[in-house]
Amino acid sequence: MGKNTFYITTPIYYPSDKLHIGHAYTTVAADAIARYHRLCGKDVFFLTGSDEHGQKIERIAKERGKTPKEYVDEIVKGFQHLWQKLDIAYDDFIRTTEERHCRVVQELFRKIYEKGDIYKGEYKGWYCTPCETFFPESRLVDGNCPDCGRPVELLQEESYFFRMSKYADRLLEYIEANPDFIQPTSRRNEMIQFIKSGLEDLCVSRTSFSWGIPVPIDEGHVIYVWFDALTNYLTGIGYLDDPAMFQKYWPADVHLVGKEIVRFHSVIWPIILMAAGLELPKKVYGHGWLLFDSDKMSKSKGNVVDPLVLIDRFGVDAIRYFLLREISFGSDGNFSWEALVGRINADLANDLGNLVHRSSAMMKKYYKGIVPEPGPERPIDAALREEAANTKAKLVSLMEELDLSTALATIWRFIGAVNKYIDEAAPWALAKDESKGDELARVMYNLAESIRWIALFVYPFIPSTAKEIWNRLGLDDELTAHLLGEVRWGEMPSGTAIRPGSPLFPRIEDEDKEPPAKAPAKSTVEIDIEEFARLDIRLARVIAAERVAGADKLLKLKVDLGSEERQIVAGLAQHYKPEELVGKNVALLANLKPTKIRGELSQGMVLAAVADDGRVRALTVDEELPAGSKIR
Ligand code: ME8
Ligand code: MG
Repeated sequence: MGKNTFYITTPIYYPSDKLHIGHAYTTVAADAIARYHRLCGKDVFFLTGSDEHGQKIERIAKERGKTPKEYVDEIVKGFQHLWQKLDIAYDDFIRTTEERHCRVVQELFRKIYEKGDIYKGEYKGWYCTPCETFFPESRLVDGNCPDCGRPVELLQEESYFFRMSKYADRLLEYIEANPDFIQPTSRRNEMIQFIKSGLEDLCVSRTSFSWGIPVPIDEGHVIYVWFDALTNYLTGIGYLDDPAMFQKYWPADVHLVGKEIVRFHSVIWPIILMAAGLELPKKVYGHGWLLFDSDKMSKSKGNVVDPLVLIDRFGVDAIRYFLLREISFGSDGNFSWEALVGRINADLANDLGNLVHRSSAMMKKYYKGIVPEPGPERPIDAALREEAANTKAKLVSLMEELDLSTALATIWRFIGAVNKYIDEAAPWALAKDESKGDELARVMYNLAESIRWIALFVYPFIPSTAKEIWNRLGLDDELTAHLLGEVRWGEMPSGTAIRPGSPLFPRIEDEDKEPPAKAPAKSTVEIDIEEFARLDIRLARVIAAERVAGADKLLKLKVDLGSEERQIVAGLAQHYKPEELVGKNVALLANLKPTKIRGELSQGMVLAAVADDGRVRALTVDEELPAGSKIR
């Protein structure tokens, strides 16, 4: 009998800096896979977290004048904030500095030591701190790290070693007997070559710094950060604290990782598990890299894209969709503004957004917004029903292979088919002919039903849009109360009142295309006082505030500038309730070129302080001054 549980993990990211869109990519993909399996009725456990120990973190904290713990606490808060903004529904977030984790790592180390597979020796060789990886001299490239190309350090210290060499043959046999274990296949072949070229014992302790989990049998040593990090996959499901839970979810169904750390997950990790007498994960999937201008995005290259900036500008689902659709899963792919705007306009605004919009407009026009009883099915109607069923079947098999990009392409092919059905069935023509009432009712019913199926299909990828569509269909139960496997054509209840709404995805117009700043500007540009004087910043009293319908971030404000009143659209809705702003005196950039945002005129910009953790507060003055006062 197939197991009804599904355990998926992401890498636990280093809090060496804020996360960028590359990290978001893995986590969004894992979230889509987790949501898909929940929609199929599986009992899913989705784990993510932070990898907080090691020399690199110790150094960075020191540079910033903080203790490692103070430093990681702050950065990790930012991780969690980002995941919340990205609608990541993880079941637990593990931090390697947690007590529950330290116990597991020490226990595992002790167990393997007692078995004789960890022994004490002397390490002499090279270490790459950014990669937290040991290399023998023979693997260096021009004296640098073979993975990242940066300088390595010579280490010579008393260390504990893990007897990896002993398990090389067993691991090879396992990989050969389980073709699905390492995916995609190209990575599997690389790993087979790597193991065949010979495995050396791995140094698993350090003495030259202290930010790590102590070796339980030898106080002066800390456990190697990768031994510590990989073990999170056991801690997160209660390895020591909740054996029943552990039994239920282990072995993991998928460890989703970037391709550069497949080796740690498909060589070191399985051998640790073998030595500990535990089952191996079912799959390690190494996806490709998100490139920026064809270069790997990385903090040290300064070409990172901040996902928070993108979410604020385009909305969370536009970003989720773009990442999962644009990059063929498993391969490298490019991030570009043109591609992002192209996807939003073509796939989201046009194909999906228009389908929902025109269908509900016609429903309103022909049936006062009430889904009719369908008339008999004609061949054109049956073809649409079959297309829906085929799409579902393909979606299921593509998701089993983790082919997320093709899964989305398949759903969009169906969306295209529904749009084509509208054009061919021409409800506007049927509506003109009284004898075609049954046919019109069938067409309009089929549109509502197709959109209901589409909401279920897209839910794993763009969950809040899916729920919004569900709501607009007038369905009052939860989308997530339904199972993909049980959806039946014809279950859309006739008599349901469609709820209208504004466009799901407004088109990005030319003037909005300008990319936001790529990286948080570290170096500031100097300006002189004349340049500053060009800014007309004035005190404005907020006299009215309301939400902008259909835009969850925007508030429409009416402000008094002393000599005139103005309307301002401000991105403050997630930070202030409208009534909290009324009566406040805020700083307004008054000579910003007027613009329309979501069709609303905005004549200026409210200035606000934006904290790294995502909090936003409008600038005000500490004493009542007349509206219109100049700010200099
Ligand atoms: O390696 N494209 O953490 P890390 C795609 N702590 N994915 C990317 C990416 C990009 N440009 N940049 C980062 C570590 N990623 C260890 C993991 S696990 C036991 C320990 C994603 O902060 C991708 O998943 O360097 C990659 O493997 C991971 O972030 C590396 O994150
Ligand atoms: Mg890395």
